[in-house]
Amino acid sequence: MTGEPRSADIFAGQPGDADLLAAIYDLEHDDVTQDLGFYRELTRRGGGTVLDLGCGSGRLLGAFVAGGASRVVGIDGSPALLRRAEARVRGDPRLSALRDAGSMELLLGDVRRPRVGGRFRLAVAAGVLPHLDGPEDAVRMLAAAASCLDDGGLLVLDDIGPGALPSRDLPLSVDWRRELDGRPIVRRSQLAQRETPEGLRVDYATLTDAVRPDGTIARLPASFRLWYPSMAVLQRLLESGGLVTETTYGSHDLDPLDEESERRILIARRAARPPGG
Ligand SMILES: C[S@@+](CC[C@H](N)C(=O)[O-])C[C@H]1O[C@@H](n2cnc3c(N)ncnc32)[C@H](O)[C@@H]1O
Repeated sequence: MTGEPRSADIFAGQPGDADLLAAIYDLEHDDVTQDLGFYRELTRRGGGTVLDLGCGSGRLLGAFVAGGASRVVGIDGSPALLRRAEARVRGDPRLSALRDAGSMELLLGDVRRPRVGGRFRLAVAAGVLPHLDGPEDAVRMLAAAASCLDDGGLLVLDDIGPGALPSRDLPLSVDWRRELDGRPIVRRSQLAQRETPEGLRVDYATLTDAVRPDGTIARLPASFRLWYPSMAVLQRLLESGGLVTETTYGSHDLDPLDEESERRILIARRAARPPGG
């Protein structure tokens, strides 16, 4: 879409300190828990091995382990988020037991060209697709995910659904006020959106004020270019990546997917190879 290939590190090039941005990211996302039961049950049913593409700070790792995962590999492009994932593993006896047994790996890498050994029963890309630059990058990730699935393995694409996408630009406003290490944090954001033939493009800018220990304020601006392909485009991309959709859901409670859905969850499997292919 633009000349520069997009970095796999979402904090690369942001003016603020990446570790603070990652801490604020967790402050915002750690209370997102409504999907944990979904991933626990999917792991339980699918069995065994899980590849978490764009694992971030490892929010979903506990759900995979609670579902009985025998091997979990997480890949993320952000060193700062991976450091937090590693801390999460160290702080959780169930996760560290799997890690000590050599069955949990957290890898710095790019979901468009993941370097992992072995095949997986379940590959999960939760919230990752919108960070890719567009159709070409998406097909790279999808084809790579397909090649990591074992026979009967499933890929889950889990993103914001049509009912929760912005229908207009949103001016700068306060999203939340929280505390980090006992000090106040204020998060503001604004967004500009536009429809394109390949889906909705969103320029999302955040401005976070964090009070430092000495009482001064660190102001952290960050911006993200997000992309939400239409369903028709996504189905074509899955096909190009060698996948077919098996099931769709509009929520982690397994509601049907429709125009009002808050989530768009697609579960796909590898397409059958053509005879002789
Ligand atoms: C919205 S977060 C979701 C994190 C996690 N899956 C969850 O549900 O909590 C998107 C994640 O994708 C990662 N990411 C984006 N583009 C990537 C790329 N090209 N390669 C690897 N990771 C990427 C980001 O670093 C971030 O951790």
